[in-house]
Amino acid sequence: MRGKKFFIIGGAGFIGSHFTDRLLSSPQIETVTLFDNFSSGREWHYKHHEKDRRLRVIRGDVKDLAALTKAMTNHEVVIHLASNPDIARAAIEPDIDFREGTYLTSNVVEAMRITGTRRILYASGSGVYGDIGEVEATENYAPLIPISTYGASKSAGEGLISSYCYMFDITACCFRFGNVVGPRQTHGVGFDFAKRLLEDPDTLKILGDGSQSKSYIHIFDVVNAVLTANEKTTESFQVYNVATGDYITVTEIADLAIECCGIKKGQTQLEYSGGKRGWKGDVPIVRLNTDRIKKIGWACQRTSKKALMESIQSMIEDIKMGRMSEPLK
Ligand SMILES: NC(=O)c1ccc[n+]([C@@H]2O[C@H](COP(=O)([O-])OP(=O)(O)OC[C@H]3O[C@@H](n4cnc5c(N)ncnc54)[C@H](O)[C@@H]3O)[C@@H](O)[C@H]2O)c1
Repeated sequence: MRGKKFFIIGGAGFIGSHFTDRLLSSPQIETVTLFDNFSSGREWHYKHHEKDRRLRVIRGDVKDLAALTKAMTNHEVVIHLASNPDIARAAIEPDIDFREGTYLTSNVVEAMRITGTRRILYASGSGVYGDIGEVEATENYAPLIPISTYGASKSAGEGLISSYCYMFDITACCFRFGNVVGPRQTHGVGFDFAKRLLEDPDTLKILGDGSQSKSYIHIFDVVNAVLTANEKTTESFQVYNVATGDYITVTEIADLAIECCGIKKGQTQLEYSGGKRGWKGDVPIVRLNTDRIKKIGWACQRTSKKALMESIQSMIEDIKMGRMSEPLK
């Protein structure tokens, strides 16, 4: 493993909790520190590692540069996952993705410069490409014209990281993920459908016309991709698309959620809000080329349908066990 001391920013969240599991499963790892403000992070995501002395949890906000810098001291690899999770929120709070996105990444690289931490693995997103329809984007696709402030903040984050790589000797991999699904998910279309269907199996409101079509990748495939890139990347700065290579529509996800909830075929009335997008800034069609990450040895294990099915089933389990409604601590 490249690095033995990991610092996961946003580590108490959905994706972060799976990095925690994977890293702590390796005896080579000496330290895993989670730095999180618990805005969407949850204690139960890492509670099962409570007795592992290599795990440290620091409650703090990335906007507090002094606290971030102090906490980051003496680590080797930063996994940066903290950002505003609600893409649609910018319609009513337009600066949210600057304050809880771009600004956070600026503080992260600055803390790395101050502490001499050399490596960052950054969760960017497919939103950097903007709305390019059926075109399959390679990482070299240009120009990048994001249509949401979320996409703009991811693109700005990549730019900040690349500039720090060249100016201050940091090395980085940025990952443009498709939609990530799996256990402990706290938001997203499959999660949302399953939650609402359990409350009311008779009607399901769907944002848009249901034809939005994207890749849904299982979190285990994402963790494999990121850790493979951490090992194998030779460039000081590199960007990778990470997606399944297949696609599924929102209506198909609704049908899958209905099936997973055990609801009779035909019982649920699907009510569409209409229009091609789910919300302002939504990209209805996303196609990502993944040749670059495959070339360094990564292979995706699950299709979008299988990934969604497994994650909806585990979400239903979590909802039934009352874990999803656990209050923030
Ligand atoms: N889930 C997806 O489908 C997906 C797809 C592409 C990219 N990403 C990116 O991956 C990252 C992780 O996503 P996730 O799904 O795990 O989301 P998440 O909301 O579960 O995790 C984000 C974590 O960051 C923490 N956080 C947010 N703002 C913070 C701040 N100011 N200071 C400290 N901690 C803060 C939250 O409490 C949370 O624990 C995000 O940056 C997201 O944009 C996610």
